[in-house]
Amino acid sequence: MNAPVLALHNLAISFGGVAAVDEVSFALAAGDFVGLIGPNGAGKTTLIRLISGILTPDSGRVELLGEDVTRRSTAMRVRRGIALTHQIVRPFRTMSVLDNVVLAAGHKRTVDPLRALIQTGRATEREHAVSILRQVGLAGAESKLAGSLPLGQLKRLEIARALALDPRIVLLDEPLAGLNNSEAAEQIDMITQVNADGVTILLVEHNLEEVIRACRRLIVLANGRVIGDGSPRDVMRQDGVRAAYLGESVETHAEN
Ligand SMILES: Nc1ncnc2c1ncn2[C@@H]1O[C@H](COP(=O)(O)OP(=O)(O)O)[C@@H](O)[C@H]1O
Ligand SMILES: [Mg+2]
Repeated sequence: MNAPVLALHNLAISFGGVAAVDEVSFALAAGDFVGLIGPNGAGKTTLIRLISGILTPDSGRVELLGEDVTRRSTAMRVRRGIALTHQIVRPFRTMSVLDNVVLAAGHKRTVDPLRALIQTGRATEREHAVSILRQVGLAGAESKLAGSLPLGQLKRLEIARALALDPRIVLLDEPLAGLNNSEAAEQIDMITQVNADGVTILLVEHNLEEVIRACRRLIVLANGRVIGDGSPRDVMRQDGVRAAYLGESVETHAEN
């Protein structure tokens, strides 16, 4: 019997007496592609921070591949297979696209990422980085400065850096923010392919149309609590979800 890649048990944290995450429990199996949605202030980013170890919960448990990591550092969780975009993998703008990925790969093996860049500058490391860049649609951009990339490509680089950690699960906090419709659709297609290649995905995203198109399962948070968990179609039909969050206009997408 395989343990879930990620399991949360009654996770809770309050800020100044306000429950930001309130008794949240769910599990993700290997290969899942789950959308985490909910209105602004629902607790999505806080939950991602609890999972990645940036925050420690007041109570409850985070398990990674069956191991309790609730009190473990972010670095240790990364070594055990969690990667997240935004917080950890902000690209270095004055470094080449390729070096950014090589550096991220080194992050997993050593506490000194700059030393890692030197030590892991071997051909195999670079070949691996090149293949990851191909996977996210950045082939040909290897020698460009990260800072010169347009936003859509910079976001692909963030995902490439997450993949360089050789993760079991990737946590994505609003990877489509700032992208136009066609860029957002391309980005989701790329993430879908990464998932098909075997990486479990937990996706926080405001772009409901894309989340519903891509994810097989949605978890809905409101006021720190899970108020819906199931297929997009079923979740969107729940009265509580509509009342907390959704306009009726979303229904047409959910019917697809
Ligand atoms: N570091 C913090 N200190 C105080 N309150 C916070 C902090 N982080 C989040 N919150 C509060 O927790 C709640 C959930 O926020 P957040 O997780 O950012 O929601 P979401 O990502 O769903 O928009 C909000 O009420 C927010 O104001
Ligand atoms: Mg947020």
